[in-house]
Amino acid sequence: MSAEVVRLPVREPSPEERPVLVVDLGGQYSQLIARRVREARVFSELVSHSVTPDEVRARNPYALILSGGPASVYAEGAPHVDPALYELGVPTLGICYGMQLMAQDLGGRVDRTGVSEFGKASLETEGEGALFAGLPAQQTVWMSHRDSVVAPPAGARVVAGSPSTPIAAFEDPERALYGVQFHPEVVHTPYGQDVLKNFLYGIAAAPPAWTPAAVIEEQVERIRAQVGSDRVLCGLSGGVDSAVAALLVYKAVGEQLTCVFVDHGLMRENEGEQVVETFGGHFHVPLVAVQAQERFLARLAGIEEPEEKRMIVGEEFIRVFEEEAAKLGDVRWLVQGTLYSDVIESGGTEGVAAKIKSHHNVGGLPADMKMGLVEPLRLLFKDEVRRVGEELGLPERWVWRQPFPGPGLSIRIIGEVTPERLEILRAADAILQEEVRKAGLYRELWQSFAVLPAIKSVGVQGDERTYAYPIVIRAVTSEDAMTADWARLPYELLDTISSRIVNEIPGVNRVALDISSKPPSTIEWE
Ligand code: XMP
Repeated sequence: MSAEVVRLPVREPSPEERPVLVVDLGGQYSQLIARRVREARVFSELVSHSVTPDEVRARNPYALILSGGPASVYAEGAPHVDPALYELGVPTLGICYGMQLMAQDLGGRVDRTGVSEFGKASLETEGEGALFAGLPAQQTVWMSHRDSVVAPPAGARVVAGSPSTPIAAFEDPERALYGVQFHPEVVHTPYGQDVLKNFLYGIAAAPPAWTPAAVIEEQVERIRAQVGSDRVLCGLSGGVDSAVAALLVYKAVGEQLTCVFVDHGLMRENEGEQVVETFGGHFHVPLVAVQAQERFLARLAGIEEPEEKRMIVGEEFIRVFEEEAAKLGDVRWLVQGTLYSDVIESGGTEGVAAKIKSHHNVGGLPADMKMGLVEPLRLLFKDEVRRVGEELGLPERWVWRQPFPGPGLSIRIIGEVTPERLEILRAADAILQEEVRKAGLYRELWQSFAVLPAIKSVGVQGDERTYAYPIVIRAVTSEDAMTADWARLPYELLDTISSRIVNEIPGVNRVALDISSKPPSTIEWE
């Protein structure tokens, strides 16, 4: 008899178990650095600069990246890190202010040399730097600094310089300390992502393992551990966040999940049906779809004031949701589509206190619902949510859906919401969406939609004088909805949209284009 030795599989740490920690020193690009690291498929988290060496050790990170920061490391109140972080043996990259801080803390020198550098600069590498391995000896980088490192940390070697910043990068492989004065995270540094990859893969030996599939696996495990055999409730809004959150939970605990979809009648054309078809029909997720259109319309009757509309839709939504939840009996957990950006905004990287994102973006859920929260998107940026959605098989249309306000079409009718106006607006919006998609512009636009100001103007159709509503086309480009520019849609496309709307929709005789930016306008009209 021969004994066979069976090797037990060695469990690789999941990407989230060994993150790269981006230490936030207050620079405007800290979040962007975290995202770029993730784009290199290495999991990263933003942490406060007050992070302690013990906290860092506990996370067992592959690397630390010190972000940019305010003007000067010498200024009063300038953010610092515990210098013991440099002694942990964790590969550390300082960027801009982060680099200067390292120099200052480690026996180098930072000075105001009188030469500030803002914008593009030509970087020349010197010798064989690990950060620049495989990259051209001369490259364009983006600089934004007044102070400069005038002496690198003791023992570090200067590996790149620019005409006005002779010490633009240093390396100390012995202590695993690295610094760059330029910003590798911005698009204006064409090889920036390669520099980051050299640091992550080559120096920190972090594998590119953070993939949508890995996220799903990790979250599924976490959700199972969190909810056990309890029942879970999830509200679907028709948007991408709640859909992805629901699919993750369904993958984890199957029929322990019940989704509730409240159709308030203020969605775009066919959206309500799509929720039912996709979730109930295609994914077989237990789904309660509540047809509450009439309740919402009744409460909106006679209301013209935008904030009052918002409040009514929010309140009524909660009421319906609560009624349905009560019917389900003993449900312990509620799914929330909180994103990493919400987490950062609400607690910053300090305490990372979870602010509960209003579930449907319409005013939040009742505080007295005594349920624990399941937040499977808590570590993800929006674009990562979309990629996870794709991996989970969510239809492309859904994954890439433009943002849509919780109060829906009610705030795109300027004036009272009536069934007739809703029908007109929905039809106009559907034409607009269809043509924008056909023109291949849907994903390029942050939002594109129709607005119905409840006024009437004179027109002529056949031999008849008409007195009907106008439709306003609103299309904007934006990064984050804080600012937006009106989209320069091609005339041909505008022409098609306009003629289709006036010809196909009775009750409309005029189409106008909104050519205002935000600020001073807003994206929505109400
Ligand atoms: P504004 O109109 O303020 O919109 O430029 C910025 C972004 O927020 C969306 N928006 C809302 N989303 N409930 C929401 O869930 C609302 O009441 C609401 N109002 C505006 C808007 O569509 C844009 O993306």
